[in-house]
Amino acid sequence: MDKKLYMVSLGAGDAELVTLKALKTLQNSDVICIPTKDKNDNFKKSITHKIVQTLFNDFGFQIKIIPVYTPMKFKVSDWQRQVEILVNATENYDKVSFVTLGDAGVYSTVYYLLDIIKVQNPQIYENCEVLAGVTSFSEASAKIKKPLCVGDSSLSIVPLIDRKLKNTTIYMRPVRGFDTQIIKEQGDIYTFENLNFKGEKIIKGKKKIVEKYMTLFIDFFKKD
Ligand SMILES: C[S@@+](CC[C@H](N)C(=O)[O-])C[C@H]1O[C@@H](n2cnc3c(N)ncnc32)[C@H](O)[C@@H]1O
Repeated sequence: MDKKLYMVSLGAGDAELVTLKALKTLQNSDVICIPTKDKNDNFKKSITHKIVQTLFNDFGFQIKIIPVYTPMKFKVSDWQRQVEILVNATENYDKVSFVTLGDAGVYSTVYYLLDIIKVQNPQIYENCEVLAGVTSFSEASAKIKKPLCVGDSSLSIVPLIDRKLKNTTIYMRPVRGFDTQIIKEQGDIYTFENLNFKGEKIIKGKKKIVEKYMTLFIDFFKKD
């Protein structure tokens, strides 16, 4: 049986925002790896741990937990050590989950770890699944009933750092027949059609003419 590694997004800090898919994945895991900023692997201040514990209590299950010391210093040696914990877990267990706050696709440790795993453990990378979650800004928007974007407005997510930024652009709401020539891609662009619906298509590259309204293009930032 193939080992599975799940990168599970837990949503924006409230167990009620955990998706059903994330809940089921955690319930079916053999072990859950939870990040902690505490050197001594204490979970006292860990929000992710609190969410997982709430799920254990509310849904009546209990899974072994492995702490993953995560100092958030953006050091390769820290990510490497975290990867070793995950890889070691997959050697001992068939289904391993690693949890993260918000959505894994937005400024999360998950992709630093996956970049390393992809090179050092391609088999685990192939058998890894990332589960999407509710972002902090989606939750913020909902709390005050203010849309992030509507009609002809767009949305920017900008890290507050004093450096030149690489950019990911998401193009949404096309009309059918729209000629995508106008999109000047900067990085790696993908076309996503009918995600999770009948006829789902994920195409590396830009579809020339939009066929379906449920199409979005993501021009992912280019890595160094
Ligand atoms: C490392 S990023 C993680 C973002 C997360 N993956 C997401 O999908 O929202 C952490 C930043 O997200 C924002 N953030 C995350 N959770 C938040 C919360 N509960 N309230 C306010 N801001 C939050 C803050 O700007 C914080 O500095």
